[in-house]
Amino acid sequence: MDFKLSEEQLMIRDAARDFAKAELLPGVIDRDNKQEFPTEQVKKMGELGFLGMMASPEYGGGGMDTLSYVLVMEELSKIDASCSVIVSVNNSLVCWGLDTYGNDEQKKKYLSKLTTGESIGAFCLSEPEAGSDATSQKTTAIDKGDHYILNGTKNWITNGGSADYYLVIAQTDKEKKHRGINAFIVEKGWEGFEIGPKEDKLGIRGSDTHSLIFNDVKVPKENRIGEDGFGFKFAMKTLAGGRIGIAAQALGIAEGAYELAKEYSKVRKAFGTEIMNHQAIAFKLADMHVQIEAARMLVYKAAMDKDNHENYDLSGAMAKLAASQAAMEVSVEAVQIHGGNGFVKEYHVERLMRDAKITQIYEGTSEIQKIVISRSILRD
Ligand code: CAA
Ligand code: FAD
Repeated sequence: MDFKLSEEQLMIRDAARDFAKAELLPGVIDRDNKQEFPTEQVKKMGELGFLGMMASPEYGGGGMDTLSYVLVMEELSKIDASCSVIVSVNNSLVCWGLDTYGNDEQKKKYLSKLTTGESIGAFCLSEPEAGSDATSQKTTAIDKGDHYILNGTKNWITNGGSADYYLVIAQTDKEKKHRGINAFIVEKGWEGFEIGPKEDKLGIRGSDTHSLIFNDVKVPKENRIGEDGFGFKFAMKTLAGGRIGIAAQALGIAEGAYELAKEYSKVRKAFGTEIMNHQAIAFKLADMHVQIEAARMLVYKAAMDKDNHENYDLSGAMAKLAASQAAMEVSVEAVQIHGGNGFVKEYHVERLMRDAKITQIYEGTSEIQKIVISRSILRD
């Protein structure tokens, strides 16, 4: 495996790093405290091309590879995981899903706005009774000839309040189980589409998470994505790539926490010396570094598998499992290295620790990644 980054990839990474330091860092504590959506920052990320990186240039996308996208996710997540989850959902679930499986009309109408940041997207699979058990969809879409009638509730939807377009998964034929599921593009403001209250969360508090309620929402047939019955495969295939983005988010959170802890250990003195000179602290940093580098290999490998048109279900799941564990463990240790200062907001590591937790839950919990991994290795 050759992880040498190209000139272009390095340029993109540096642009994301500079942007995160200049534009995300200044208000990040405040946005987290107030649960404030980063409207201005998202607008700027759209201008920089960070919202539709992998999508076709024909529809306003960057036409870039997955590794470039991973590098951007990593840099943004070092500082602000609330912003990076918005980027992740828009890029790897919404834009990628539409670009890969949408038809030309759908791409012209929706994708070209989503890639530029003119509009924001949301991906709506989870329900109160269908989280990990995603085939148990209770939301229904009844075929009425030229349209469907959508009813049900989705929950935990990232960008739930701020999105303009929603990719909604629903059961169209119960008898056919997961083969009777479809995916639809739903617009904000359509009659019967209601946005529930914003969730008050432990982490990624700048991102808005809502439940969505559909009461007899009329969805034109042309807004169905793919052939009849393709919806569950659509969700699984899209999530397989999404998991690489979340793995990169976790890697970035781990790196952000590690860098802060390393720098702190060089300046904080205890017992007459900088704390890095105490072996207990130095060994913690060594362990953190190893975890991060191991996670990086898996994340970049998964991205390269996708770019090389190899199967990335297994490598993406492994990357997400390992990187999210690294994010959690490294950020806990980063707080420990900061002592009391680690427990207060101005040192950033407590936020990174809170943000880390979600990477083990969304886009498939760690237990679900182990199901994907074990099925894959046992089948092989
Ligand atoms: N690609 C293509 N098809 C796939 C697939 C993949 N990666 N994985 C499964 N499928 C297909 C299977 O082939 C099968 O179809 P056929 O019978 O036609 O062959 C169908 O899907 C059902 O598969 P399983 O029998 O394996 O289904 P299962 O009930 O055992 O569940 C699961 C599989 C992997 C656990 C799946 O339910 C799952 O991924 N659950 C987690 C859901 C999830 O990740 N949600 C994330 C929501 S989005 C989000 O979270 C965004 C955010 O936070 C920011
Ligand atoms: P459950 O499925 O009820 O799981 C509870 C526990 O049981 C977990 O530990 C799980 O791992 C374990 N478990 C369940 N089944 C098994 C099994 N077979 N074997 C072993 N263990 C098992 N969803 C979207 O569709 N779109 C979004 O944009 C989105 N954004 C989110 C943002 C946030 C902040 C949060 C919290 C969630 C978001 N989600 C989103 C939902 C997320 O994907 C689900 O929360 C996740 O898939 C888990 O589902 P659940 O919460 O129903 O937990």
